[in-house]
Amino acid sequence: MSALTEMPRLRGDRTLQLLRDPYRFISGHCDRLGSEGFRTRLMLRPALCLRGPEAAALLYDGSAPLTRRGAMPGTVLRLLQDKGSVQQLEGPAHRRRKQHFLPALTDPGSLGRLRGLFAGALHRELPAWQARGRVDLPVDIVPPLGRATWEWCGLPAPPEDLDEISSRLFDMSDRAGRFGPRAWWALLRRRGLERRLALMVEAIREGRLPPVTSGPAAPLLALEQAPGTPLRSWLVAVELLNVLRPTLAVARYIAFAADALGRAPELADAFAAGDESDLPGFAEEVRRHYPFFPFTAAVTRGPVRWQGHDIPEGQWLLLDLYGTLHDARNFPDPDRFDPRRPISWQRQDNRFIPQGAGDAAAGHRCPGEAVAVELICEAVRFLTRDLRWVCRSEPLARPGSRVPAGRRHAVSLRPG
Ligand code: HEM
Repeated sequence: MSALTEMPRLRGDRTLQLLRDPYRFISGHCDRLGSEGFRTRLMLRPALCLRGPEAAALLYDGSAPLTRRGAMPGTVLRLLQDKGSVQQLEGPAHRRRKQHFLPALTDPGSLGRLRGLFAGALHRELPAWQARGRVDLPVDIVPPLGRATWEWCGLPAPPEDLDEISSRLFDMSDRAGRFGPRAWWALLRRRGLERRLALMVEAIREGRLPPVTSGPAAPLLALEQAPGTPLRSWLVAVELLNVLRPTLAVARYIAFAADALGRAPELADAFAAGDESDLPGFAEEVRRHYPFFPFTAAVTRGPVRWQGHDIPEGQWLLLDLYGTLHDARNFPDPDRFDPRRPISWQRQDNRFIPQGAGDAAAGHRCPGEAVAVELICEAVRFLTRDLRWVCRSEPLARPGSRVPAGRRHAVSLRPG
């Protein structure tokens, strides 16, 4: 066993470098150092940056004493998962809470319902888009996706300002990679929404609103703090946001999918003709190829032995998602978009890790991968059959400094 001091070390604080090139920061240094990890300082804090399947297993297989608490800067945490959420729990408490997410997010009937609602919402939007003669992605997909998501969740009648709510939900992921006023504004709007959802939870519990009997919101409303004691309403609101917010974030994957279709007209022709043999692979390759979250993070809660290194308690770990997805040892010719790669959210190979690794029920892997794939597939059907317009986009596949990649109007569709 060797002490962690034998892991290559980058001197000085590398925060600026990370902010300039977040997607290639870890893999670029790993390549140069000939190592799958290195030590450095980020935001003045000692960090161990790792990539590859073994590192993915370390952060996701549940065998090492780790926590997500203290692993992300405050604004990022509060815009995404938030304090008190499932992601901040560990062990049996985490597994119990996670059981309230997974069935509704993976059950084929529930996914089929979401698909149908999304298809309906898109078709209702079509005449307005045709009249306007222009659709910008991801931003224009947010209102129909928001309407479908609200109804699918099973929440009470949609509020009048649902489109504004959807825009707030989208902004939470859109601004999570920012610092300063834009992130603070998104945070303020999130707090307002959290309060509204908490009041809604109370009204449902007190019978002032009808009970929620189906959809992903139903098991969340049934969450308990202790047997017989309902979970505090604001925590239920946080977990409702943990379904609503990331489902709206799939709008960005849909923009990436539109970009990929624009670059592969033969695939778009096949999908338009109803040949869907490559459609699931296409959606999965969108999740591998395009830059969304560059990395995830955790902190050790005790000493950990990993790959011959002794990692001390309290060590901050960063796992390179993008670099692992673009490593030629894991995916030959990684910068080529290839819908025929044998990749799927249903495998747990620790290589295909756009939304985390391992077993979603036991660890912190995202429970929403099936939802993301279903929504991308449904959007592709719509974009190839109903709105086959000319696509102009930013170079979305080339990662820059923006997290997640691409502006709100990154892809523009217009009649040919
Ligand atoms: C836009 C596409 C999405 C991306 C890129 C994404 C990414 C991720 C990642 C990387 C994690 C792991 C975080 C960690 O290890 O600490 C995660 C966790 C999570 N995601 Fe997603 N996600 C997406 C969509 C969804 C959807 C659609 C849902 C629900 C409907 C969802 C709900 C969650 C929840 C609840 C967790 C916490 C899981 C836990 O800690 O056990 N995500 N997501």
